[in-house]
Amino acid sequence: MNNRLLSMKSLFRNPETPGSLFLSFEGIEGSGKSTQIKEVERFIKDKGFRVTTLREPGGTAFGEKLREAILKSEAPLHPLAECHLFLASRAQLLKEKILPFLLEPGSVVILDRYIDSTLAYQGRAGKLGLETVLTLHQFEPLNLLPHRTYFLDIEAALSYERQKVRGNAKDYFESQKNEFHENLVDGYKEIAELFKERILKIDAQRPLEEVTQDILDDLKGFIP
Ligand code: TYD
Repeated sequence: MNNRLLSMKSLFRNPETPGSLFLSFEGIEGSGKSTQIKEVERFIKDKGFRVTTLREPGGTAFGEKLREAILKSEAPLHPLAECHLFLASRAQLLKEKILPFLLEPGSVVILDRYIDSTLAYQGRAGKLGLETVLTLHQFEPLNLLPHRTYFLDIEAALSYERQKVRGNAKDYFESQKNEFHENLVDGYKEIAELFKERILKIDAQRPLEEVTQDILDDLKGFIP
């Protein structure tokens, strides 16, 4: 692993309110994030925590406008243009929702995609480079990392199969070539290795219940 990348980890911090937890979910299309997020949300609520579940891009009125601008873009965007739009949405989500929510002890934020999506999609698949994406996150409030990230790992072939079954119209990223998706899968694995103390890589090609069980078993280490 590149030493320069490893040293950049020191630019980041975790939320500091004792008893609060910041979780994110990552993975390519069809990896089952939404299903697993619902299970985790229920588990945490049953334990008596305050929970908010948010998604990126979006989660605020301004962020939802940016989401439309990116995912419905007809023009191919420069990956740096994409990156700045995702970061603008993220900064606003942190300011409006995530940081205020975490201030109260006993609060849990569950986020569907976060910095690792930008590292994988723009950094690796879009070829901006991980270093550029990390550098762009070095200032407040973007330098905040989750306590735990669940990376649902599936191969590109299974992602295509699941998308075919769903039959929805393809958005901007789903319409990219196969090479983009294969780079995405490799990129995510590399990022999971770089941040291995934070990211738990889970084989999500298995039955949903087994994946949920792995996540909940790990979560018990954070939530007594
Ligand atoms: P979404 O419909 O939310 O995808 P999914 O259901 O798979 O999570 O669309 C978000 C898309 O934006 C998805 O293709 C990933 C992409 N994305 C990036 O490229 N960079 C980012 O930083 C983020 C947050 C998302």
